[in-house]
Amino acid sequence: MATTEVSITPEAVEASKKAEITPDPCIVVIFGASGDLTKRKLLPALYHLEQGGLLPQKFAVVGVARRPLGSTFAEDMREGIVNFGGVKTDDPKLEEFIAKVQYHAMNFDDANGYSALKTLLASLDTKYGTNGNRLFYLATAPDYFADIIQHLGATGMAKPANAGDAKTWVRTIIEKPFGHDLASARVLNDDVNQVFDEDQIFRIDHYLGKETVQNILIFRFANGIFEPVWNRNYIDHVQITAAESIGIEGRGPFYESAGALRDVMQNHVMELLSFVAMEPPISFEASAVRAEKIKVWRAIQPIPASDTVRGQYGPGTVDGKDAIGYRQEDRVSPESQTETFAALRLEIENWRWAGVPFYIRAGKRLAKRETEITIQFKQPPLLLFKDHAGPCGEQIEPNTISMRIQPDEGIALRFGAKVPGPSMNICPVNMDFSYAVAFGPSSNNGYERLLLDAMLGDATLFAHRDGVEATWALMTPILEAWKSTPIQNLPNYAAGTWGPESSNELLARDGRTWRKS
Ligand code: BG6
Repeated sequence: MATTEVSITPEAVEASKKAEITPDPCIVVIFGASGDLTKRKLLPALYHLEQGGLLPQKFAVVGVARRPLGSTFAEDMREGIVNFGGVKTDDPKLEEFIAKVQYHAMNFDDANGYSALKTLLASLDTKYGTNGNRLFYLATAPDYFADIIQHLGATGMAKPANAGDAKTWVRTIIEKPFGHDLASARVLNDDVNQVFDEDQIFRIDHYLGKETVQNILIFRFANGIFEPVWNRNYIDHVQITAAESIGIEGRGPFYESAGALRDVMQNHVMELLSFVAMEPPISFEASAVRAEKIKVWRAIQPIPASDTVRGQYGPGTVDGKDAIGYRQEDRVSPESQTETFAALRLEIENWRWAGVPFYIRAGKRLAKRETEITIQFKQPPLLLFKDHAGPCGEQIEPNTISMRIQPDEGIALRFGAKVPGPSMNICPVNMDFSYAVAFGPSSNNGYERLLLDAMLGDATLFAHRDGVEATWALMTPILEAWKSTPIQNLPNYAAGTWGPESSNELLARDGRTWRKS
């Protein structure tokens, strides 16, 4: 495979990982801290920031959950940082960091618990010099979001303690799923907006923290050669795949109420789509970027049920091992109609994209883990060499640009090249950029950048209420249509395959196929 060369030194790569500014002293308070997210992603991400010198010196973390965990919480977090963050047990800053991790047990509906939390935070301000700055991270089950927000408001914790001092701030990060349909997202937005101002609210989608996702904007708007062909005149269609080989990982009750459309399509995939399809923003300010994304979502035409596919995995083989079917998973109904796979065909009715179909799919227990965006270009107007694909297939392949979001992050341009020899035979070849080769491996999980941005008050990579409602407006009619027409043939794909046959048919109807990796 091709190599990737960059003209910057490893030292320069390191230097660019340093921030221009460090956040103010603050306390990060994580609600739902006994859950997997805190241990697997949030604490490792915070520690990666600490390692990079990106956290303020005066800093503390408070985990909040119902279970009486006491000091075992900090030990558990240490384990998470080591096991999921790729950090050595004797890493030099680990002890000092863990000493700043506290735990507070309370029920999320108990007013006294919030008063006690307020007192604890004030005492930590005195101990660590965190100056009243708070980042409340809501990582609980979504049912608790409204309650927690309301109690934070009622106990006066949602407003900066000394409002006159511009340096003191209170912000909240709210995990996905933000609502479960358009109506509930609107209600939640109203509830949250009653307590927090919009500029205090950071609705998180961890895909936006991924370097490769941010790189879509750099690829498109920091280079001169792609944008001129990035439109309906040159592009045949766009494919986005968010495939996972894992199943639901013990999250039966959550997944039963979510499904692939709510869990991944409404948020992660829609975010990817907006970055691929948006117009250049007038600046990289939060409001400018968000405005362009929202325009894309609003230009998507209502998606008819006939352009949607749902699937559910049955038993199969994944990575050479037997895998049970979805209906056999723990705490999943044996008659479940929940989709573990979704594919949609959609069109964006604007001047750039009219007539260019976007095919998007997401699923669990697919053949492999692969998140990828492929732009397929139109064939040249005159296929001079149409009979010369001989050695590599029946037809000359169209050009594609594939952006690999994960794993194996990179970008490949695929084009035809002459096969050496006396005849004019053509085979497709790849020009391949690999992130790891160019910039070295990274153990970041996406949350680093987002936590840092929230501490700095930069909302560019977070969702705005209008954006969340725009994507729910697209998904809700599909959810309703699916609910009213249960399907009989579930499960309809075996674990370890690429989803149901109807997903292939969705493209075959248009004379196209899903890209094979
Ligand atoms: C989460 C979903 O938001 O994203 C999970 O709830 C999914 O079901 C995960 O597995 C995928 O994230 P990543 O970063 O592993 O692609």
